[in-house]
Amino acid sequence: MTGGFGGIGQALARWMVDHGARHIAILSRNGCMTTENRRTVAYMESRGAKVYAFTADVTNKTSLERTLNHLRENPLIPALKGIFHLAVVIDNSNVLDINESQLERALAAKSRGALNLHELTHEDGLDIFFLLSSVAATWENPEQCGYVAANSFLDALAEHRHRQGLPALSVQLDAVRGVGFLEGKTKATEIVKRKGFLTLHINEVLRMMPRLLKARVIAVITLGNMVPDNVQSADDTCGQLLNHLPDGHRHCQLDEQNFQLQCDST
Ligand SMILES: NC(=O)c1ccc[n+]([C@@H]2O[C@H](COP(=O)([O-])OP(=O)(O)OC[C@H]3O[C@@H](n4cnc5c(N)ncnc54)[C@H](OP(=O)(O)O)[C@@H]3O)[C@@H](O)[C@H]2O)c1
Repeated sequence: MTGGFGGIGQALARWMVDHGARHIAILSRNGCMTTENRRTVAYMESRGAKVYAFTADVTNKTSLERTLNHLRENPLIPALKGIFHLAVVIDNSNVLDINESQLERALAAKSRGALNLHELTHEDGLDIFFLLSSVAATWENPEQCGYVAANSFLDALAEHRHRQGLPALSVQLDAVRGVGFLEGKTKATEIVKRKGFLTLHINEVLRMMPRLLKARVIAVITLGNMVPDNVQSADDTCGQLLNHLPDGHRHCQLDEQNFQLQCDST
C-alpha cells in the first residue's frame, strides 16, 4: 500500500486487517513516523497482522523495485497479491499559470508512481490493483490542474490494464471527511460542494470496499455523494453526464449491491 500512512491509507489499512488481511506492506517517503502511524501499526498487529513499513519513494523505480524484491524474497511473506496506490502530493496550481516543475510535482507520486507499480508487478499474478483517483478527474478543477491530470492518468492506466487482461480499479473518490488531506480544509470542501458534491465520510467509503474489491469488469468508478441538479447547474458540460437521470429527481444514491444509481423524486 503506497501512501498507507496518510489519512485514508491508515483507515483502509485498519479496515483490511479487520477483514482478514494478515500481511500488509506500507510504503511512504517518511515511513512510520507519527504517533498516529505507530498507533495504527499497533492496532493492526493487535489484530494478528504483520505490518512491514518501508521508507521508499514510489516515483523512484529502483528503490520501489528493491522494496518489492525484499517482499518477494522473504519466505515468511506470502506472494504479493494486491496493490493499493494512495500516494499523493497535492499541488494547487491554476491551469493559467502552472509551470513545468509544479506539473511534474503534481504528477509524480500519483502518475509516475502508478506507472512504476504497473511495470514492476507484471509477473506477480496480482488479484487487485486499486488506484485512488478523484472526482476531480471527471468534474474538473482548474485550480488543481496537475492533480486533475494525475487522477486522469490513473483512470487511463486502469483502462489500459483491463485491455491487457490485468486487474485494475480506479476509484474516482469524492471529498472525504473524517480523515485525509481535506479534513479541516473548509475552503477546499466548499469548492467541491459548489460543484454539487457533498462529502463522503470515510466510514461510507469503507462500507463500499467489499463491493469495489469484487468489481472485475469495471475499470473506473465514481464514488460520490452528489446532488445531481446542483452538478448540472454548476457546469452544463459536466451536467450532461447526468442527463440520463429523469427530470425532477433530487436524491440519488448508490445501490451497494448492484452498483446502480437509485433515484427517487422527493
Ligand atoms: N482526502 C480526500 O478527500 C480525497 C478525495 C479524493 C481522492 N483522494 C485520494 O486518496 C488518496 C489518499 O489521500 P489522503 O487524503 O489519505 O492523503 P494524505 O493524507 O496526504 O496521504 C498521502 C500519503 O502519500 C504519501 N506519499 C506522498 N508522496 C509519496 C511518494 N512519492 N512515495 C510514497 N509515498 C508518498 C505520503 O507520505 P510521505 O509524505 O511520508 O511520503 C502520505 O502518507 C490520494 O491518492 C488522494 O488523491 C483523497
